Amino acid sequence: MKAEAQAQPNIALIKYWGKRDHDKNLPAVSSLSVTLDSLWTKMSVDFGAEVGSDTLLVNGVPTPAMEQRVSHCIDLIAGTERDPASIVSEGNFPIGAGLASSASAFAALVVATAAACGKTYATQTLAQLAGTSSGSAARSLYGGIVTLTAGDEHIDVQPLLDPDEWPLEVIVAVTEKGEKPVGSGAAMIRGEKTSPFYASWVKRQDDDFGTAKDAVLSRDFERLATISEHNCLKMHSVMWSSRPPIVYWNSATLSCLETIRSLQSTGHAVFFTIDAGPQVKAVCLPESAAAVMDALKATPGVLSLLQTKLGAGAKLLPSE
Ligand code: DP6
Repeated sequence: MKAEAQAQPNIALIKYWGKRDHDKNLPAVSSLSVTLDSLWTKMSVDFGAEVGSDTLLVNGVPTPAMEQRVSHCIDLIAGTERDPASIVSEGNFPIGAGLASSASAFAALVVATAAACGKTYATQTLAQLAGTSSGSAARSLYGGIVTLTAGDEHIDVQPLLDPDEWPLEVIVAVTEKGEKPVGSGAAMIRGEKTSPFYASWVKRQDDDFGTAKDAVLSRDFERLATISEHNCLKMHSVMWSSRPPIVYWNSATLSCLETIRSLQSTGHAVFFTIDAGPQVKAVCLPESAAAVMDALKATPGVLSLLQTKLGAGAKLLPSE
């Protein structure tokens, strides 16, 4: 009747941007991501609560705006004839600010819902169900470095390396605390419809995905750095060339990129990636982490830093 699960957000190094099927929320391109460790979302789903319709509390605040998306995700697992659920979400990082909060939320939600209604699913099936609600959420079902292969009918999500097989670290430079002006789903649709670069973005993605996968399997940091930065900037080129344009960056975002370029020029193993928001994620080897932290802390406009290793996939929490 009641279950709670936890998931961590993931950051894509090869990005998902664009959908081949909007009804099924099927991504147009394959992606590759790292699942984080220290940032988390916990979701509890209670079908036994005396409520007339689904209710959603996010960090203690009723959040009706998200209710429909959450209810639909629960329906996919528990069916539409189910009892109403009381859903409680808690997280330790900002929501809707380009920190992949929907990825960890929906990954935790599918695991909690399946357990609360007594169903057992393979992780792959849970990943596909989470992906129906938020494409990137599918990847948070697994830990470490994860691939998502986009197919015409469904996605295939696979763990590529466990967290301890390549101890990368991620440092997030937060440059703005508020919610983003355009959600990623709406922004993708705009890019598909209006960016002159969209078709070539999709066409070249398999090459980038293959290069990144090889780089990960051979632990080739420099190759992964080059292809990840290139892929990130191509995604942002699609956003910038959409009409009207979508620019998630602020001046501190650019300052962080300069900091990372300067760290690279002094031999540090670090590269950047940026999602649908102004935050900069620096991916580095452990020996460069302290220098990256210090340099980003001193960068104008950086409000706070989050440092994390790679972590595990979504998991059920023990019942109280
Ligand atoms: C820039 O997974 O949030 O973070 O499927 O519409 O919910 P929906 O999109 P979402 O998009 C993530 C976009 C991204 C890149 C990525 O995570 O691959």
